[in-house]
Amino acid sequence: MERTTLVQHVRQQEKATPEATGEFSSLMNEIMVAAKIISLQVNSAGIGEDIFGLTGKINVQGEEVKKLDEFSDLTFTKIIGQSGTVCAITSEEKEEPFIIPAGDDRGKYIFMMDPLDGSSNIDVNVNIGTIFSVYKKKSSGDRVTDEDLMQKGEHQIAAGYIVYGSSTIFVYTSRQGVHGFTLDPTLGEFFLSHPDLVIPEQGSTYSVNEGNWELWDEPQKNLVAYLKEEDHATARPYKLRYIGSLVADFHRTLLKGGLFMYPKDRKSPNGKLRFSFEAAPLALIVEQAGGKASTGTRRILDITPTGIHDRLPLFIGSKKDVEMAEERLAASAKNTIDLNG
Ligand code: AHG
Ligand code: MN
Ligand code: MN
Repeated sequence: MERTTLVQHVRQQEKATPEATGEFSSLMNEIMVAAKIISLQVNSAGIGEDIFGLTGKINVQGEEVKKLDEFSDLTFTKIIGQSGTVCAITSEEKEEPFIIPAGDDRGKYIFMMDPLDGSSNIDVNVNIGTIFSVYKKKSSGDRVTDEDLMQKGEHQIAAGYIVYGSSTIFVYTSRQGVHGFTLDPTLGEFFLSHPDLVIPEQGSTYSVNEGNWELWDEPQKNLVAYLKEEDHATARPYKLRYIGSLVADFHRTLLKGGLFMYPKDRKSPNGKLRFSFEAAPLALIVEQAGGKASTGTRRILDITPTGIHDRLPLFIGSKKDVEMAEERLAASAKNTIDLNG
């Protein structure tokens, strides 16, 4: 059987890109190295050195930092930082951007990451992952500016994620479709396993933390209630699937279709998920696969953040499901306004 490695696939895409210099391929190869190191840690967690548990630190998000959060952040920062392909790295685990010193070997890319997504699932052997996004430096001169670090989602040149679990899967897009690769741990190579991924136009699954029901506004409650009603003409009731690791919930949605939601609520009025490290990269991937991603009212890729840790509501998945959600939220909000006069 023809087995294309991720290295070969990236090089083939580089050849199809006239202006390519090979720098992006080098960056992708370094991302793969970091992913393999974390995959090894995750799959041997609990054996040998203690990678489980808390560091006792609180990150910029106000969340407890797990040892694997920190290990993943340090691993990616070290490997990508020394790759000579980037001039800055921003991370969910770092309050400030990591700027590659001017004298060091730097490149034209900006690398953004959620080094370990789903950290509440680390100690219970449930899928976790890494999400990343790549932009090109926009500002002239050597200095890395806010203009470089807070770019419109549409300006991403590539995005991807790795899911660590029963197998380690690496999914990415460089705007030439979406492709998935599975790690062969004996060879230490990622092999093409999901070529040209396309998300089903409509699914029959919704994915949301219903534990937040009392925190939602009426339009959000009405939307989820609608999905639970019985109406075979519109494939309802939808099944509920919620893993609690965005990267795993998204991967299932990409393969099977459906709607993932992390809406705003009374406790998180801007939503919980981060634009740079979660929403924007997954939005590029889902659109490249024929799906949609919005805040419920705005297309994610049309947004330019005002802070590297900006949060926002996320509705992402099958085109028809996201459109249905947007329409029902808008109609319900209008009725609520009408009812309230
Ligand atoms: P992270 O571990 O990077 O902080 O991300 C956790 C996120 C995301 O993975 C998931 O969709 C969401 O938190 C789950 O939040 P709830 O536990 O509130 O449902
Ligand atoms: Mn996350
Ligand atoms: Mn994280």
